[in-house]
Amino acid sequence: MKILVTGGSGYKGSVLIPKLLKSGHKVTSFDTNWFGDYLQVSNSLTKLKGDIRDLKDLSLKGFDTIIHLANVANDPAVELNPTMSWEINVLAGHQLIEKSIKENVKHFIFASSGSVYGIKEEEKVTEDLPLVPISTYNKTKMIAERVFISYSNNIKFHSIRPATVCGLSPRMRLDVAVNLLTFQALTKGKITVLGGTQVRPNIHIDDICDVYLHLISNYQHIDSGFYNAGFENITILDIAKKIQSKVNCEIEIKDSNDPRSYRQDSSKLIDTGFIPKKNVSIAIDEIIQSYNSGQLSDKSEWHTVKWMKEKDIK
Ligand SMILES: NC(=O)c1ccc[n+]([C@@H]2O[C@H](COP(=O)([O-])OP(=O)(O)OC[C@H]3O[C@@H](n4cnc5c(N)ncnc54)[C@H](O)[C@@H]3O)[C@@H](O)[C@H]2O)c1
Repeated sequence: MKILVTGGSGYKGSVLIPKLLKSGHKVTSFDTNWFGDYLQVSNSLTKLKGDIRDLKDLSLKGFDTIIHLANVANDPAVELNPTMSWEINVLAGHQLIEKSIKENVKHFIFASSGSVYGIKEEEKVTEDLPLVPISTYNKTKMIAERVFISYSNNIKFHSIRPATVCGLSPRMRLDVAVNLLTFQALTKGKITVLGGTQVRPNIHIDDICDVYLHLISNYQHIDSGFYNAGFENITILDIAKKIQSKVNCEIEIKDSNDPRSYRQDSSKLIDTGFIPKKNVSIAIDEIIQSYNSGQLSDKSEWHTVKWMKEKDIK
């Protein structure tokens, strides 16, 4: 198939695109390259540098699927310039799906977020529960989903609500929980946990990318709508202890200003035939191995907000 990935140079895109190419798809990546471009050259890959807020030179004719990842992608980054974030995360998405429909794209996948639910007491947070997003980032995801689903009579639409992603990528992120804590253990010999009792869902980066491949292969049989994608609900302290069992380090617990706990139940996705293959423990092992072999080191661009501030991206 012919697939357009917006945000293809990002943390997820840089793992997803090689997998799509390996599966025989022809891929175009469309990205501002805020954090660089780590995609290997391939005859089946076209790399376009561009901004989804300006789609006039981008033809979508001939694409079967759009995987829409290009967003301002975490809470503090959105707060740098909320107006720009609404423009990118919602208004540009609206233009993109309208153009996709006009130019006969069959399938549109959106990377939403598991954080749209807000704080929930329920043991099983399923897709039918009301959304009470807390941060502006979470709100942009909820509104974008509502815009997209309103077009589901015209295009097959899947909104994936991923848990926090963990694991290695050529465009690394050291600002997501498992990656951050593992890196602290490796470089400082100490993990600082804020609170620690908050339960959060997690997903390995290979699994979330495989979810997108699964949707592409089976899109005709999977109903349009919202799908949770998170397979391990664990406390931050449990993550720290998993790391401590592999790296010699101490755990320091400090007060948290973010007591949010949320869990995800991904049975709806599992029922479509998706089977996760990895987990948090494997992500930790892979990060340790990469660090110890000298491949993974710290860079400003691995920290989204720090880098956006440094480069005045706002
Ligand atoms: N990483 C996670 O834990 C996680 C969890 C849930 C949802 N998501 C969502 O998945 C998507 C990808 O996340 P990620 O972790 O790869 O983030 P990322 O920041 O690494 O990737 C986002 C990419 O989008 C690009 N981009 C941003 N604005 C753009 C614009 N206007 N035009 C074109 N490109 C633009 C950036 O340059 C970047 O390469 C995002 O929508 C994010 O909200 C991520």
